[in-house]
Amino acid sequence: MKREVSLIGGISLIVGTMIGSGIFVSPKGVMRNAGSLGAGFLIWLGCGILATFGALSYAEVGTMIPKSGGEFPILLEAFGPIPAYLFAWTSTVVLKPSSLALLSLTFAKYALAPAYNRNEPSGLAIKLAAVAVILTVIFINCASVKLSTKFLTVFSFGKVLSLVIIIIGGIVMLAKGNTKHFEDAFSGEAPGVREIALGFYQGLWAFDGWNQLNYVIEELKNPFVNLPRAVIGAMVLVTGLYMLTNVAYFTTMSMQELLESPAVAATFGDRVLGVMVWVIPCFVCWSVFGTCLGSCFTAGRISYVAAREGHFSKVLAMLHAKRMTPAPAVLLNGFIAILMVIPNDFDTLIDYFSFSMWIFHGSTCAALLYFRYKLPDYPRPVKVPIVIPIIVCIAAVCLVMAPIIDDPKIHYLFAFMFIMSGLAFYFPFVHY
Ligand code: ARG
Repeated sequence: MKREVSLIGGISLIVGTMIGSGIFVSPKGVMRNAGSLGAGFLIWLGCGILATFGALSYAEVGTMIPKSGGEFPILLEAFGPIPAYLFAWTSTVVLKPSSLALLSLTFAKYALAPAYNRNEPSGLAIKLAAVAVILTVIFINCASVKLSTKFLTVFSFGKVLSLVIIIIGGIVMLAKGNTKHFEDAFSGEAPGVREIALGFYQGLWAFDGWNQLNYVIEELKNPFVNLPRAVIGAMVLVTGLYMLTNVAYFTTMSMQELLESPAVAATFGDRVLGVMVWVIPCFVCWSVFGTCLGSCFTAGRISYVAAREGHFSKVLAMLHAKRMTPAPAVLLNGFIAILMVIPNDFDTLIDYFSFSMWIFHGSTCAALLYFRYKLPDYPRPVKVPIVIPIIVCIAAVCLVMAPIIDDPKIHYLFAFMFIMSGLAFYFPFVHY
């Protein structure tokens, strides 16, 4: 592959993946678990800090082992082929396609809503529209790397702009003296450990995507300089935008109203934008489509890198001869995502997603700590203070364990068994 991703392209890739559906749908889940506005803001801030710490740790390991494929090459180098294979397996079969499916379904719902005039669009129409979105995204990703990153830049810019418009609406409301919902911010019940963990799950869905640049390191121009820069720039930007967007929401609605609103951003639009209220579904669709594009862009890279190591079929390591895009891997991701669109079960998908994702984020930061111990003198173009990966590791353990210990649900066991079932393929097809 060629080095075609510039600093701006890198920032757009991170920002473009992170800002998606979450900031329009997660505030409710965060606030519901937090119990008070103040605690809710602290959870949002906590998610931003945790994601930033995660991204900084990934910048260290990513520049130490500058290979594409995100967690895969790092786990391979640190803990050997089995954990790496399990990561590639889980990503290719569950994580990536499920997020593409979730996003395309969200897109379809919002895109169809005006046509159905506030009625719930029919299930079949939603699924068909979601499939159309997936096919479009695949087409763009197979067509050209340059085209994909250009599109990403345009989409990321639009997303930032739409959040800025919401924030400006909020500032206008503040200037008009709408501050009453911020009084007594900490009144209400303090959340328990489990509520905090579940609040983080919701908020972290909005922040997910902070690790995207590690998937395309080999395509990044001047990676040792640009990777940490892009990470810091993108994280500061997104955390700031998310915090301010939440402030904006609360200038127009109380905690109670937010929890009762079916779509927070739409309620905000109703109260602030007047005749321009239709722009909100457009913002959401725009934003979600951009995330689909970025998600598919990196998804292709995981199976591509795993296949290159001999972990997946060689077909997945092939590039399109003229266009130099990993077309077979991109197609596989799209195909599984289409299968997942069929049952259309949102909440379970998000639960599976966060649970599995944080197992691997935790393992990758553990790999960083292992390298520090095992290879202390190995050149590290980026070196973060050691407390950062330690905090991420502890947070990952808490996030994965807290919901299980507090309320053991069978579906976490399923998710775990699913990850392990990769071994049934590993031994016959890879090991032997
Ligand atoms: N943060 C995004 C959102 O708010 C979801 C990102 C999904 N992750 C991914 N790697 N595609 O919708």
